[in-house]
Amino acid sequence: MGNSPFRLARRLREVRPSPTLSLLAKAKSLAAQGVDLVSFAAGEPDFDTPEHVKEAAIAALRAGFTKYTATAGIPELRAAIANKLKRENGLSFAPEQVLVSCGAKQSLYNFFQALLSEGDEVVIFAPYWVSYPEMVRLADGTPVIIETSEEDGYVPDPRQLSRALSARTRAVVLNSPTNPTGAVLSRQALGRIAAVLRGHDCLIVTDDIYEKLLYLPEPFADIANVAPDLLPRTVVVNGFSKAFSMTGFRLGYAAGPRELIAAMQSVQDQSTSNPTSFAQKAAVAALEGPQEPMERMVAEFKSRRDRLVSGLNAIEGIRCRSPEGAFYCFPNVEPLIGRRFKGQPITGSMHLSELLLGEAKVAAVPGLAFGAEGYLRLSFCTSREAIEKGLSRISELVAALA
Ligand SMILES: Cc1ncc(COP(=O)(O)O)c(C=O)c1O
Repeated sequence: MGNSPFRLARRLREVRPSPTLSLLAKAKSLAAQGVDLVSFAAGEPDFDTPEHVKEAAIAALRAGFTKYTATAGIPELRAAIANKLKRENGLSFAPEQVLVSCGAKQSLYNFFQALLSEGDEVVIFAPYWVSYPEMVRLADGTPVIIETSEEDGYVPDPRQLSRALSARTRAVVLNSPTNPTGAVLSRQALGRIAAVLRGHDCLIVTDDIYEKLLYLPEPFADIANVAPDLLPRTVVVNGFSKAFSMTGFRLGYAAGPRELIAAMQSVQDQSTSNPTSFAQKAAVAALEGPQEPMERMVAEFKSRRDRLVSGLNAIEGIRCRSPEGAFYCFPNVEPLIGRRFKGQPITGSMHLSELLLGEAKVAAVPGLAFGAEGYLRLSFCTSREAIEKGLSRISELVAALA
């Protein structure tokens, strides 16, 4: 096989196929076959994109705004993002420090490609969003995973962080509210992380994509708010997908130190160039137009969360903490592992997800995908009726276990 014309790049051999995507594909094909499926697998709001945002895209199309733009985004959008970061987050970035990309995913990808060489390490907290470690591997870097626990509310232990940092550490990834746990890092927790990072010369990337999906009375804060002295080596990543229900527009952004943003732009120059022209116009409308549609969506998510959490906790063998943000529940299902379905022992979260899909027609993502065996991720981006139906199906399957 050494000389096969199809042999792939070495870096790809390190990358694992996304278990979430394969499960989603299976669920989609069942739904396409007409199976009455309840899906808790979605990673996107089930709300329509706000009307004024769609209108802005349509107006841009009609006006012929359909050509290449500057790679980093139209000046109007970069300025609107810099204004948003100042107004809502109290962070000062010049528009030139903002790079608009095809989703926060590309922003993060650009970051790792611009920063990492072979042997460079990036610290990631588990449970983590599946793409972080794979993106690091695709950039020839090495992910260093630090476990966090349900008991500690998924707050990282500063001593563990301190031990994980080395001369090879180039960056630490923070994500709060967190996918998949919905946990939110308090100002105190961020302060303790900042105290450790002050002693190490690495970059910090804060993925704030779930910023608006917050169910706490306290306002959102990231590490740059708590430790402004770290801002010169912090890259803020955010986007339009989750807050504005704009996943298909593919728009996200990074704001950070000029040199790094310029290097990230070089990566984008040679890969995709600019994000879609008319989507950028829609993004300006999202930031500067009425925010009520988003506020209504967040209120609905909060009551769905409460229902899903209480429903899951009512099922014997399942324990679910209430997520403070994002739109995911991350129930502990450890007591179910090892129980038998039709004589066969359940071997882990992947097996349980397969059983739920095959037997109960419920799609839920296994915790294993996020580096946390013994858990499932259930998104509440689905109707209240679907949540009720899904809960009774899960409950029936669990009752059938021996
Ligand atoms: C933690 C996290 N970061 C980034 C993204 C990427 O968002 P997008 O590329 O749609 O902006 C996601 C999407 O699921 C996510 O969960």
